[in-house]
Amino acid sequence: MAQQLIIDTDTAVDDAQAILMALCSESVTVEALTVVAGNVEFESEVENAKYTLDLAGRAESVPVYEGARRPLVKDLDHATHVHGEGGLGGTLRPDTAIPSADEHAVDAIVDAARASPGEVSLACLGPLTNVALALRREPALGDLLDDVVVMGGAVNTLGNETPAAEFNFWADPDAAKVALRELDVTLVDWGLTVRQGVIEGAALERIADAETAYADFFSTTTALSRAFAREQRGVDGVTLPDPLAMACLLCPDLVTAAGTYFVDVDEREGLTRGYSLVDEHGVTDGDPRTRVVESVDERQFERMVLDTLLHGDPERSL
Ligand code: RIB
Ligand code: CA
Repeated sequence: MAQQLIIDTDTAVDDAQAILMALCSESVTVEALTVVAGNVEFESEVENAKYTLDLAGRAESVPVYEGARRPLVKDLDHATHVHGEGGLGGTLRPDTAIPSADEHAVDAIVDAARASPGEVSLACLGPLTNVALALRREPALGDLLDDVVVMGGAVNTLGNETPAAEFNFWADPDAAKVALRELDVTLVDWGLTVRQGVIEGAALERIADAETAYADFFSTTTALSRAFAREQRGVDGVTLPDPLAMACLLCPDLVTAAGTYFVDVDEREGLTRGYSLVDEHGVTDGDPRTRVVESVDERQFERMVLDTLLHGDPERSL
């Protein structure tokens, strides 16, 4: 029986690739997309989510719920420099005319979890504002959800928004703090992404040469982030944090090492806003409840990305 999956997303380049991977997977049924403020202007994120569903022929069957348009407390700077104007690389500006679902995203998450206790998993690909608000509405949310995978944080390594913080945790540190304190989360961080979540070289060539709609979508939308990775980290590759988190949910065997630690987030404004403290040595009094993915089978991850884009089936060669 396929897992029911809700994807909470600030839909931009890598979110869209993660959503496509889930839509093509046999192991989950994507029940809904819930949109949260993050990467780019909220309306663009909503359109990007709808465009991605439409590209996969699923716009009729998967509702898009609009959620928090700003973080719980902080002001938000978008990551347009990474994802381009509109969030899909800067050239693609969808206007789908597809209606959003009526309910608020937070209510959609809570209602789905209550309706099917233990059956609904949550993939969190953006700031955790919707998740924190859902926890306020339903404090027992953690008991009702199945798996919760979060892309966020920088586990004892450089962040990508500031040296101290990864974007999703920086954007809404108050929400990240609440979510990690109240949910048992599998965390895929920026450090893992930089180590094992970059598609480069021959794989990029195979995608560029492929004549599929998904491959074209990938090449078109990732050109800017590829240039950003080259400039920021000197690598000619496409960094895929959200697809890496999604792949770990779709295929748990992808994870080759993980540790469960106390993880907390600095919600204060200032130098360390959004810093993810990960107590790998157990020296604090914190509750070690966050499962941090420390390594994956990166060849298998690359195959899942290629199989999604070339064949529309991430599990084709597993
Ligand atoms: O830091 C990477 C994360 O921030 C990804 O989810 C990306 O889409 C942005 O939201
Ligand atoms: Ca994202």
